[in-house]
Amino acid sequence: MPADFLAEPYKIKMVEPIRMTSREERQRLIKEAGYNMFFLRAEDVYIDLLTDSGTSAMSQEQWAAMMLGDEAYAGSGSYYRLKDAVESITGYPHVLPAHQGRAAEKIVMDILVKQGMVIPGNMHFDTTRAHMQLRGGKPLDLIIPEGLDPKSRHPFKGNIDLDKLENVLKQHGKEKVPFVLITITCNNNGGQPASLTNIKEAGELARRQGIPLFFDIARFAENSYFIHTREEGYREKSIKQIAQAIFACGDGCMMSSKKDGLVNMGGFMAFNDRSLYEQACQLSIINEGFPTYGGMAGRDMDALARGLEEVLELSYLKFRMGQVAYLAEMLLKAGVPIVEPPGGHAVYIDGRRFLPHIPQEQFPAQAVSVALYIEGGIRTLELGSIVFAEKDGQTGVSKYPELDLLRLAIPRRVYTNSHMEYVAAHVIDLYKRRDTLKGLKMVYQPPVARHFTCRLEPL
Ligand code: F0G
Repeated sequence: MPADFLAEPYKIKMVEPIRMTSREERQRLIKEAGYNMFFLRAEDVYIDLLTDSGTSAMSQEQWAAMMLGDEAYAGSGSYYRLKDAVESITGYPHVLPAHQGRAAEKIVMDILVKQGMVIPGNMHFDTTRAHMQLRGGKPLDLIIPEGLDPKSRHPFKGNIDLDKLENVLKQHGKEKVPFVLITITCNNNGGQPASLTNIKEAGELARRQGIPLFFDIARFAENSYFIHTREEGYREKSIKQIAQAIFACGDGCMMSSKKDGLVNMGGFMAFNDRSLYEQACQLSIINEGFPTYGGMAGRDMDALARGLEEVLELSYLKFRMGQVAYLAEMLLKAGVPIVEPPGGHAVYIDGRRFLPHIPQEQFPAQAVSVALYIEGGIRTLELGSIVFAEKDGQTGVSKYPELDLLRLAIPRRVYTNSHMEYVAAHVIDLYKRRDTLKGLKMVYQPPVARHFTCRLEPL
């Protein structure tokens, strides 16, 4: 262990047993689940790396704060505590809760996106993109080229390409661009951060055209930590100061609190502009709830207010990001192909390099996923040919994405480093006998978002 190695900055007060099944049981269970991880029961999973969303462990302070929740329909004290917490980090005075991130996205898109508009960003998350498209808008991913190269070790692979952004803004102007959206960290290419320099310049480009800059801030604390450790000039700044500097470049944000809020459910929007907030309140009243709760219980708003403080603590982030990096390093040392450098919340295995003998239409990343479950009871998520393939409307031929990835998302404060060692041991063992793995074929798929309910069979 290196001397600066940081063990878990907490000790365990309450435990949740996890159950190890037998290999034979898991073979049966995954077959019954149609080789789709979403159909497994959580109790049949030993280590669950499906997502880092809504899976965090709360602190004793958060549980204590829940007892102080104010469940008033209007004007709840919990709301005002949440508003203060959000405002002190973002500087945006108008804060509106929502039940989760996509609810905030729907409200913002319903107000601002109209038929034929274009919305540039580094790389929009799936639900965000879907809400833009439902309004007739065109989401544009303008990530720098390094962001799509799994071998590039660029420190800020979540940066937006500023030349492309400038061209889009000049070409379409503020009539057709309702806002620019930067997602921090960028989930769709592996939890990769954007630098403050890049964010500042993007904000200036947008401002020059009179266009607002918004942020999707599901993992803003992790992005701030990357800036702290990787960007010149921010070593002496606290994580909160860095987060404040990010928000100062923009005009508003949408948050899925299920990630860096350190809670199991929740979200919010926050804006500089009062009239935008007032319009959002109107939509909230008919969809989410009165603006001082917006779909959240008072106690949950209190837990979130506290979580937003804890997530900015340096010792928390050092361990959190260190744990993800620790798993990545064990895999890299054994030659396992992963996206480098690892992102903030997950390690992504490169399915095509892991199983070069399995063609993309036989879902190599999913083949690794199924084998990891059978061998180790580990649940992971394919983000590749199953999730992102697009069928040509005329020829019916599937177009597969460049990257066929398997995400090992690490829930916050849930697993110990020895769980990470267990996961690494199984991945490495599988990699050594990769030649024996076979692909899968899809036997059922629904018309939309097929990964959630499709069924597969081994070849
Ligand atoms: N934005 C980003 C960057 C996300 O990663 C997610 C969710 C959302 C918005 C939507 O938030 O789930 O609260 O409605 N990501 C989850 C994941 C589902 O597993 O990465 P939500």
